[in-house]
Amino acid sequence: MNKRLAVVTGGIGGLGTEICRHLARDGRQVIAIDLPSRQERIEAFRGEVASFDGAIDFTPADVSDFDNCRALVEGIEAEHGPVDVLINAAGITRDTSLRKMTPEQWHQLMRVNLDGIFNTCRQVVEGMCERGFGRIVNLSSVNGQTGQFGQTNYSAAKAGVHGFTMALARETARKGVTVNTVSPGYCDTPMVAAVAPSVREQIIAGIPVGRLGSPADIARAVAFLAADDAGYITGANLPVNGGYFMSF
Ligand code: CAA
Repeated sequence: MNKRLAVVTGGIGGLGTEICRHLARDGRQVIAIDLPSRQERIEAFRGEVASFDGAIDFTPADVSDFDNCRALVEGIEAEHGPVDVLINAAGITRDTSLRKMTPEQWHQLMRVNLDGIFNTCRQVVEGMCERGFGRIVNLSSVNGQTGQFGQTNYSAAKAGVHGFTMALARETARKGVTVNTVSPGYCDTPMVAAVAPSVREQIIAGIPVGRLGSPADIARAVAFLAADDAGYITGANLPVNGGYFMSF
């Protein structure tokens, strides 16, 4: 059997890079998707995954653009075959309190963090259902579950991600396609490094495990849900937050 093909959006990012590595170690052929404008980071990424001997590749695309995503998936399928695994890890922040938030800060974030999931899933779901196999994992956030000061846009989008996951999971459950959410807590990534040090220190003090999460902590959970034998888990949210938010 050919290697299963996995597409990871935000694939060269703080979490995405490690997700690509975990999937490749699990025997997937991996294609990382990210913005073409991140040229420096793309070069660094190529170096970081060079030891995987071609199992991890990079293709540029903008997840906020539906037509771009359609062309992307058509191109990938023509070159590599069907997409079996889709990981939606592309995300941005535009943190500011609501009273200062501009419509642009709201819409930019929605276009990437929420529209992006529609734009990519819409391209692959039909083929997955026809072939009787698919694994979709969408990245939400603990801040979608709890809300965070300065993140009305981000919290709304990330809560929306899991609503999307649950609805699509119902639509595909009979077809061998699972759809799940992973909700990271605060992790050691550039996104969290951008939070003011005093705020960040307060947040870390509130994490029961006593540290930021590592990208590997998140990638492990994503790879678990993306495994071939994870077929009875669907519509679930897997929190990976060091105990920062516990719920049942
Ligand atoms: N909690 C309580 N009060 C806060 C606050 C907070 N987190 N942040 C600001 N305030 C207070 C301010 O001290 C200020 O008080 P006064 O009016 O009494 O002086 C008041 O709220 C008004 O603040 P502003 O509207 O001026 O907002 P700001 O510009 O000072 O701060 C912010 C906005 C920088 C976004 C700040 O709220 C903040 O850092 N929030 C946390 C952002 C955060 O955690 N982002 C996560 C990014 S990483 C990520 O998202 C990954 C993931 O999934 C976990």
